[in-house]
Amino acid sequence: MSSETTPGQVSDNGAVGSETLTVTDNRTGQTYEIPISDGTVRAMDFRQMKVDEDDFGLMTYDPAFTNTASCRSAITFIDGDAGILEYRGYPIEQLAEQSTYIEVAYLLIHGELPTKDQLDQWCQEITIHTFVHENVKSFMQGFRHDAHPMGMLCGSVGALSTFYPDANDIQDPENRHIQTIRLIAKMPTLAAFAFRHAMGQPYVYPDNDLPYPGNFLNMMYKMTELKYEPDPRVARALDVLFILHADHEQNCSTNAVRAVGSSQVDPYSAVAAGVAALYGPLHGGANEAVLRMLARIQTKDNVPQFIEGVKAGNEKLMGFGHRVYKNYDPRARIIKAAADDVFEVTGVNPLLEIALELEKIALEDEYFVSRKLYPNVDFYSGLIYEALGLPVSMFPVMFAIPRTSGWIAQWLEMVQDKEQKIARPRQIYTGERTREYVPMGSR
Ligand SMILES: CC(C)(COP(=O)(O)OP(=O)(O)OC[C@H]1O[C@@H](n2cnc3c(N)ncnc32)[C@H](O)[C@@H]1OP(=O)(O)O)[C@@H](O)C(=O)NCCC(=O)NCCS
Repeated sequence: MSSETTPGQVSDNGAVGSETLTVTDNRTGQTYEIPISDGTVRAMDFRQMKVDEDDFGLMTYDPAFTNTASCRSAITFIDGDAGILEYRGYPIEQLAEQSTYIEVAYLLIHGELPTKDQLDQWCQEITIHTFVHENVKSFMQGFRHDAHPMGMLCGSVGALSTFYPDANDIQDPENRHIQTIRLIAKMPTLAAFAFRHAMGQPYVYPDNDLPYPGNFLNMMYKMTELKYEPDPRVARALDVLFILHADHEQNCSTNAVRAVGSSQVDPYSAVAAGVAALYGPLHGGANEAVLRMLARIQTKDNVPQFIEGVKAGNEKLMGFGHRVYKNYDPRARIIKAAADDVFEVTGVNPLLEIALELEKIALEDEYFVSRKLYPNVDFYSGLIYEALGLPVSMFPVMFAIPRTSGWIAQWLEMVQDKEQKIARPRQIYTGERTREYVPMGSR
């Protein structure tokens, strides 16, 4: 900003500061100088631009927030054009290769990788909080036999707020810590109970001898054996999937958690909002849609005809395209490798052949290339989940378990951000104004 001007002041000499935006309001002829910081202008700086004293002031219009930053965040970095994803500065490829989900959850929440002692304590705290109150089990049993597990998860995580009424003391760091531990620890238990419910099988209690992914597999698949022993290849592939899904900056569900959390509600209710957002087919439901699409295509030979339908605008190629990535989603590459590990244990999923053919054709086709549509994380994750014997209704649940750490990291950041207030957008009102009420007999 030039030294002669202050934010919002009319620039009298036309000098252009290096970090400002000069705006002339052609309705009034007035010129304003708006500061730019971090490549961003503040929407509130436009409010001073008025045609007269009674004018509310200029607003910005951005449905779906396609070009609006809603927060400052130090958690996850994405460069969609370059296909880069980093948690707290660590590339996703290195974390997927060398870390565990539990360690990544620590990183997301605390900002640094833990020391050995910190990690041991973190694991211990999470492990001893995996059980849920018996009444949670009882009310989950009250859901219909064919209840969607994501609906069960949404309801049950929200209900945890009634078991921990102290959770609404969100200004207390100690309190926030214990709710953080509880949420990360209990989410797999709720998810597995929802799965067992759908299968008509008895719920399995956590086995605290097992690590996080192994215990989840135990709660999902244990039958009559005294001790469930997870296949280490499957447990590791699951851990990698959890790492890949842990956070993705301001996506739809994270935005929901932040928006709901901005009312200062407890974190269980805010996370329930995140689960609800993740339920939608354009977000967490996309891998379910991928599998349905692959099943509908039936054979590799039908792929060209299907692609023609997509290009004609009849439907979307599910698992392709992303609001942020305009390049290959880096998570899709890692997931493809994890799929191979799982298929080694379970046998190859017959739908894989169709998926590979779709990917091959789409990556060469002008329609997809010109729109920068590449496979996203959901294109392959569904194939892995299906190979693990999961019904498609469990797919968004598998996403919600690890995303919980990201949601909480974002929620914690928001709660401590002095600039944040209750999230409340503006609108452009397009309806009627001040009409006389018409009595029923006169309509
Ligand atoms: C993810 C998604 C919602 C992002 O949408 P977006 O950023 O709003 O992108 P747009 O809808 O503006 O798409 C831009 C263009 O690409 C097309 N397009 C986007 N995704 C497409 C897909 N999966 N298949 C076919 N065409 C697609 C749009 O029709 C549009 O074409 P046009 O310019 O001719 O109108 C969208 O790509 C999509 O619906 N993908 C399928 C669902 C999915 O896999 N979701 C998981 C996200 S992790």
